[in-house]
Formats: sequence, structure tokens, C-alpha cells
Amino acid sequence: MKKIGLHEIRQEFIDFFKDKGHLVIKSFPLIPKNDKSLLLINAGMAPLKPYFTGEKTPPSKRIVTCQKCIRTADIENVGKTDRHATFFEMLGNFSFGDYFKREAIEWAWEFLTERLEIPKEDLWVSIYKEDDEAFKIWNEVIGLEKEKIVPLGKEDNFWELEIGPCGPCSEIYIDRGKKYGCGKKDCKPGCDCERFIEIWNLVFTQYDKDKNGEYHPLEHPNIDTGMGLERITAIIEGARNIFEIEEIQHILKFVEKTSGKKYGIDPSVDTSIRVITDHSRAITFMVSDGILPSNEGRGYVLRRLIRRAARHGKLLGIEEPFLNKIVDVVISSWKVEYPELEEKKVQIKKVIQAEEEKFQETIHQGINILENYIEELISKGDKCLSGKNAFKLYDTYGFPLDLTREILEEKGLTVDEKGFNQQMEKQRNMARKARKSVVDSGWKNAQSTELFSDYDTQFVGYDILEIETKVLGLFKQGEAIENLEEYDQGIIILKETPFYGESGGQVGDTGYIRGENFVARVLDTKRIDDVIVHFINVENGRVSVEEPVYAIVDKDRRENIKRNHSATHLLHRALKDILGEHVNQAGSIVLPDRLRFDFTHYEPVREEQLKEIERIVNKKILESLEVKIINTTLNESQKMGAVGLFEDKYEDEVRIVQMGDYSKELCGGTHVDNTSNIGLFKIISESSIAAGVRRIEAITGYAVYEYINQMEKDIQNISSILKTDRSQLTDRIYNLIEELKKKEKELNSLKSKMASSIAEDIINKSVKVDGVNLISYKIEDMDMDSLRNLGDEIKNTIDSGIIVLASIDKNKVSFVSMVTKDLVNKGFHAGNIIKEVAKITDGGGGGRPDMAQAGGKNINKVEEALSMIPSIIKKQIE
Ligand code: ALA
Repeated sequence: MKKIGLHEIRQEFIDFFKDKGHLVIKSFPLIPKNDKSLLLINAGMAPLKPYFTGEKTPPSKRIVTCQKCIRTADIENVGKTDRHATFFEMLGNFSFGDYFKREAIEWAWEFLTERLEIPKEDLWVSIYKEDDEAFKIWNEVIGLEKEKIVPLGKEDNFWELEIGPCGPCSEIYIDRGKKYGCGKKDCKPGCDCERFIEIWNLVFTQYDKDKNGEYHPLEHPNIDTGMGLERITAIIEGARNIFEIEEIQHILKFVEKTSGKKYGIDPSVDTSIRVITDHSRAITFMVSDGILPSNEGRGYVLRRLIRRAARHGKLLGIEEPFLNKIVDVVISSWKVEYPELEEKKVQIKKVIQAEEEKFQETIHQGINILENYIEELISKGDKCLSGKNAFKLYDTYGFPLDLTREILEEKGLTVDEKGFNQQMEKQRNMARKARKSVVDSGWKNAQSTELFSDYDTQFVGYDILEIETKVLGLFKQGEAIENLEEYDQGIIILKETPFYGESGGQVGDTGYIRGENFVARVLDTKRIDDVIVHFINVENGRVSVEEPVYAIVDKDRRENIKRNHSATHLLHRALKDILGEHVNQAGSIVLPDRLRFDFTHYEPVREEQLKEIERIVNKKILESLEVKIINTTLNESQKMGAVGLFEDKYEDEVRIVQMGDYSKELCGGTHVDNTSNIGLFKIISESSIAAGVRRIEAITGYAVYEYINQMEKDIQNISSILKTDRSQLTDRIYNLIEELKKKEKELNSLKSKMASSIAEDIINKSVKVDGVNLISYKIEDMDMDSLRNLGDEIKNTIDSGIIVLASIDKNKVSFVSMVTKDLVNKGFHAGNIIKEVAKITDGGGGGRPDMAQAGGKNINKVEEALSMIPSIIKKQIE
């Protein structure tokens, strides 16, 4: 066998199929595009589905990729065995109606035996039991012995996902020798033991499975193959499993070093090491593709992986956050193929670190509570944690259900998942109810997409805002109907529409639709599975299907939206310029009255950076840049250096919005013709919304004008209240502050003067404690300085005595204690007295024997504290 490693094998594969006329395409991101059936890309074919079904024309009929994949079906088993993994790379060659079985088989054989030099005698194959054609090719063309071609049933040799392209397949196995085997006589591919390892799956994609599980023959047969890069590397390197291949060993060794634990001694330690080794690649790649930890969907998978890895770090005794360091190890190896990892390194590390730290905070709390639950269960002889408690852990302490389940499992216990889901549903319903929604009865079920799938609306609203067209469909309460009556709420679908349906962050248009016999107000427009639906109120008359109508968008509102949308693009570009290229759009909302832009950045944007960003955007507005729309191909757009969201990446036809030479962005939204139309741009706020994600809110055009007006009004109000001209306003405020300070001083000196006048009264209230003169007194609203003055005043008046004064000022207690010289000489100590007194009011303090001060918190205990003084003094006498 050839002596090469993971990165070289990848390259060999790509080169081999390039030589066979395949177009090389870089791995697609892990986030599927336009595919609701998948959370994460899990096979080389997944991002290519539209090419298999014929929905889209591929850039070449032969494609080769090395695709990053994540499979999460059994995360719980990852780590427990040395076979399971979440992240892996899949090598694949694809034919879209071009070559078929024969070439696919021949080339696979050639690659394995000639390029990788795997001995022919080690290779076996399986075929779908009814696939005589595949049998013939393996047997007659390749020359593989009959005994080494194993026919298997649909469960083994028919490849399919939930829905989409699928077909019978033939798998290539490698025989690793008897030492891995079960010893059974009939051991062969398909056996459960470890001797025959499946390395390459050749799928003869002939069907498209729909959501009802029905198979529809595809127009032409295709080839989809998949070979796990890590697995083939293990074979070539002679490693026992993927955890022992060289590149992955770098990570594993790092875990060993960080934890001080060795791999291969204690099975539970091995599990933790494998969990971290596997998950570290998954999380690094997920974050690099723009996924952020959250409680839903992909974000939840990421959160779960980070938290699971962090917890296993704890089990290994690693105290400090460490996952952000392991990211370095992953990147240093995989940047060979994925240079973007290095580019986004800082961001990736920040996101992972933040999530790990967040988890550290919650985990202690969560684990303690879970341990209490476990104790309770065991003492009651129960085996199953209630869904309610599991949900509490999740909801209040951020403790993922899987983690709860795993920890329980370690103690032989389970969790009531149904109960958990019920609680979750309950909470969702509550949230749903709480949310104020426009979707009331007439618009019910508007989101159920099948409803509109038969319609096709042409959007004409980039250029025109009014059009004569015709009603294609009407809906009320989720059902198609023929008419909507006066005062009805419902949905209308038009043949053409100038109304923009909410998408890409831009809100939907509002306006009117009118016919001969009716007027309807459009309250919102959405794009539901590519159909534009208008949410209407029939204000008078009656509207019918097929009726000719006139559709009119609210122009002023649309103009404002356009300004905000175009400003968003300028802002995006300016953020990159000032903060760095790592800044990427993480979400945005473009409304008529403001815009909101979320972006990846790992620290607050500094005041001066923010000012600079704002200045640049305004500069670009004032430069009156022409806004051009360019319809082109994805490839071209990338050459042009256009930026865009990951999800937009696979459209063959893309729309670029270009502003002068400054900003080029993939976008389907509506924009001004010239940046000068934006008017002015003003940032209103900058804040954090999640780890590594910041949010800027800003306004443009009329909103800035109104903002200025409001500001002016405020200033005028202030001027008139302060009775001064606005040019004098600052001086006036400074003067006022000075005046206030002066007044405060005066007040204080007045208070001290008052103090001396009350000093006499206080002295008159003195008592004797074992022959010592004690003066203690509580007074209201006196600050520490005045209190001290009062103390001095008293001390100067009397010959001998102990003074303790307390004052409650601004909800806090101040104490001052003084002792005359003669008593100090006898051993009395002001500091010690005050310390004990203050303690009673939850405070503390101290000082010299003759003078000390202290503070206290509990204002209700002042009297009690003062009443304790005689006994404190008595103690000092002793
Ligand atoms: N799509 C096939 C698989 O994932 C090749 O195994």
C-alpha cells in the first residue's frame, strides 16, 4: 500500500477524478441551502441534490468533491466506541446523467488498487441482490471472484436519505484479516464483526423519494459515491481505527497532554478522550461556517457538542476552559484544505470559549441539582427522572437533555423524555400566545406551505410599484376559497405583484389592492416557499378569483425601506473596513423606520470605531455612488469579490447589488438607485446579542431628519427650562453644577453649625456606666463629616467621656466614636467600641483609640446597636 496520509489521500482522489474529466468543487459549507429536510450536510451528495433531480443544471456533468459532513444521529455513542464520529470528510465522484455503473465501478477499482495500491485480494464488494448488472461488471469486467461479490437486501444496499435522490448501491469492503474477525466460517461483508470494513459506497442514483416515501424514477440515472476520508486513511496507515490516524492523533495527544491522562488504559478515560477528539473538529468547522450556539436547530447541535466536550474535559480533570486551545490544533492541521479556518481563527476561538465559559457557570449548579434529584430517585427506589425536573434543569440551568440523560445513564437511571417534550411544548405554546401576532383567524395556517405550492407569482416590484394584474388565489383560515367578502381577512395571490415578500431581512410591503368591486388593504406580504402571499383586509366590496385588479405598493414606506436596505450594505462594508474581514453578517432586519444589522465580532465596537464607521457610510452616501444591479453566476460573483450570506452560496444565478466601487453584495432586496437617496445615516445603538455577535441599530433618510427635529426640540425645551440661549447651554449647565456644589457646601456648614447647637442637648443626655461618662445619640440625615464635627464639638465641651454617634443618611448608617484622653489612658478604645457597634447593623469599621468611624447597612438596628454600648464598655473595663 502506498505510504501517504490524510491530506495526500484527499489530493490523490481529487486529482484522479480530475484526470477523468470531473470538475473539482470545494467543499460546500455545513449549512444546507434551500433544504429543509436536513439540519447539517451529512453526505457528499447532499448539497448537489438539485443536480440529481434535474431541478438545476450542474456546472459540469462530472463533479468531484471532498465534502465536510456532520452526522448526529447517535451523538451519544460517539466516544463510547472507536467507530462513531460526528465530523468526517467524504470523498465523492458524481455523474449527472453522464457515466453510469461501469465507469463508476472501474474507476473505484482503479483508484483503490492502482493509486492507493491496495492489494486486490483484500477487496470484497456487496451489491443489491437484484442488481445483475453490477454483478456482471464486478465479475466479468473487473474479474472479481463470484464468492467475493456478496448480494444483500434493501436495508444494506439501497442508499437513501429521508427524502431525495436515492438508489441501489454497491459497497466496497476491505478485508483486514482474520485477527479482526469473529472466526465464523461464513464471515463476510455484512457480518457484524470488525474484519470487513466498508470503505466506499457507489450509489446508482435512479430515484427521487418524496415525502410520502414514494419513489419516482429520475429522468436519467446518476452516480453518487462516498468514501470516508478518515476511514480510508486508517486503512492506508494501518491504523486500527480513525482515532489512530496521524492527523487525528495530533488532537488526541493534545487532550492527553492537557489532562495528564493516557489513552488506552482506562476505558472511561478513553471515552472522554475520544469525545473531545471527535467533537473538537465538528465544533471548529461548524463555527467556521457561521453556526453559533443556540437553543434551536443547528445552533443547538453545536451547543450540545461544545457542552458535551467540555463536560468530558471535566471528567478528565481539566479545570480550565480548554476547547479554544484545541481549536488551534485542529486548524493547524486542516487549514491545508480549508484556509478559511485560519482566517476565522480568532472568531472561532472566541465563540467556543464564550460558550465553554457559559457552560462552566451553569454546569456546577446543574450538576448539583441533578445529583440531588438522583439521590431522591435512588432513595425512593425510582429509576426515571420526571420530565418536569429534566425540563427545569434545561430551562433554568441551561442543562441539555442529552447531558441529563447521559449522566443518569451512568447511574443506571433514565429520564422521562415524553414528559420533557410535553413541558417544552407547553412553554412554547405560552410563548406563542404571548407573542403578539398579525396572524389571526382569517390568516390562520398561512405558514403551511403546501397551501401555495401550485401558484407562481412574478415579482415585478424592483422597478414598478403599481400594476394591473389578476387574482390567482384566495385563502381564508387556511383554505382556498372563491371569494373574500367585505371585512374578511385573508390571503390573496396575484399573477404579478409589485409587493416585496418579506425575505433576506427586508420586511414585506404594504399597500392596496383594488378591483372593480372592492378595496383591500395589504397589511403584510410574505414569501412562503417562493410564492408571494399578501395578507389583506377587505375594506369594502367582494373580491373573487380570476378578477382583474390593480395592486399598489405604499411608496413612501417602500422608499424608506430601500434607504435602510442600501445603508445596511454600506454599513456591512464599512464594518469590514474598520473592524476587519472577519466581520460577517449574522442577521439583519430592514424596516421602514430603522435597520438592524447583526454581525460577527468578538468585542464591543469602540466609540471611536463606531464614529468612524458612521462617518464612512455618510461619506459614501454623499459621494452619490450609483447603485447597479448585476445578474450573474455564482462563479462570476465570487471573482468579482462580492460578499454574501453562506446560504446564498449555491444559487447558480445570483443578483449582485453594487454601490460604486465600494460595496458588492449578493442580495435579492430592493435598493435606492443612488446612495445619495439614503440622505443621511445615523447609528443609534451598538450592543451584544450573543457570544461573538454584535448588533448595530441605525436610521436613515427621514428618520434621521425626525431624529434631528426631536433633538432640537429637546434642546429647546432644556434651553427654555434653564432660561438661556442654546449657545450658552453648556456654560449654563456648568454654572448650575458649580452653584449646586457651592450650595451643598453651604448646607453642610449649616448642618455643622446646627450640630454645635445640638451638642449641648446631646451632652445633657449622657449616662454613667460604671463611673464612665457615656454619650450616645442617634441623629437623622447627617453625613460622616458633619457627624465627626459634632463629635469634636461634644468632645471639646466635656472633660471626660465616651461618645458614640450614629446617623442614618441615604439609607446607610454612619457611626463615629470618640474617647477623651483620660479614658484612653485607662485603656478604652474608640476603634474597638465602634467595631462591635457597627457589627450589629451588618457593618464594620475601626480606627484609633481616641477616634474611630464605621458604617452599617441595616438601618433598623441602629437603636439596638446603641443600646448595646454599656455592655461593650463594661467588657472593656474588665
Ligand atoms: N451518498 C452515499 C453515502 O453517503 C454515497 O454513503
